[in-house]
Amino acid sequence: MIKNKKDHVADHTAGKPKEKKAGGVLVSKNGPYIVTGGLPLEKEYIVADSEGISAEWKKGKAYPEQETYALCRCGGSKHKPFCDGTHAKEGFDGTETATKKKYLAQAERIEGPGFTLTDVQDLCAVSRFCHQAGGVWRLTAESDDPNDKKLAAHIAGQCSSGRLVIWDNETGKPIEPKFEPSISLTEDPEKECSGPLWVKGGVPVESENGTKYEVRNRVTLCRCGMSGNKPYCDGSHIGCHFNDGDPEL
Ligand code: FES
Repeated sequence: MIKNKKDHVADHTAGKPKEKKAGGVLVSKNGPYIVTGGLPLEKEYIVADSEGISAEWKKGKAYPEQETYALCRCGGSKHKPFCDGTHAKEGFDGTETATKKKYLAQAERIEGPGFTLTDVQDLCAVSRFCHQAGGVWRLTAESDDPNDKKLAAHIAGQCSSGRLVIWDNETGKPIEPKFEPSISLTEDPEKECSGPLWVKGGVPVESENGTKYEVRNRVTLCRCGMSGNKPYCDGSHIGCHFNDGDPEL
């Protein structure tokens, strides 16, 4: 509905407090993520199949609503997922090293007979859903079955980082899951570690210097402090066994 459009777009209306804000994430200098706009926060778990391949996401605890909150980015807080000031005591270096190039300017294209896959490996958060069905790359390259297009879009849509996107060859449009603007604290029981923040639904992410990252439906932000592609996750949380104290790990 057009009258609700402002609920779902970046806030360009500072000074007009009556309009509902879409919310956003600010990457503060060597400090936490400052979340605004009352974005919902919840846990989300990777569920593996009998062969250990990531098969689905399972929702967990939802946190009480807060208009503004600060999420730990250094990985050291004793009050995770929230910041407790440890970054300052430990001298956390949170320098942002990720490119601000748009996704499509970086993407490799795999064109199949029925649909197309785009892939930006640098964004990989290693959630491993892409291993389903013999691998989403194989599925794309070999299949023109319309059911496989749906399956490939489902698999790519589970890719929390947005590394993988399936495109409809007929319309030229991406096939994306519908997400409300929100943040999930991901957990990876199969690897016995906690994962990144899964930022969903086109939430704007702003750099400490005021520049913006491309607004996307799915991105993952590092919260272990170890990524080499900050603020995005690069899968380092697995190697460093990042644990936010979740009881299911
Ligand atoms: S949470 Fe994935 S690299 Fe830090």
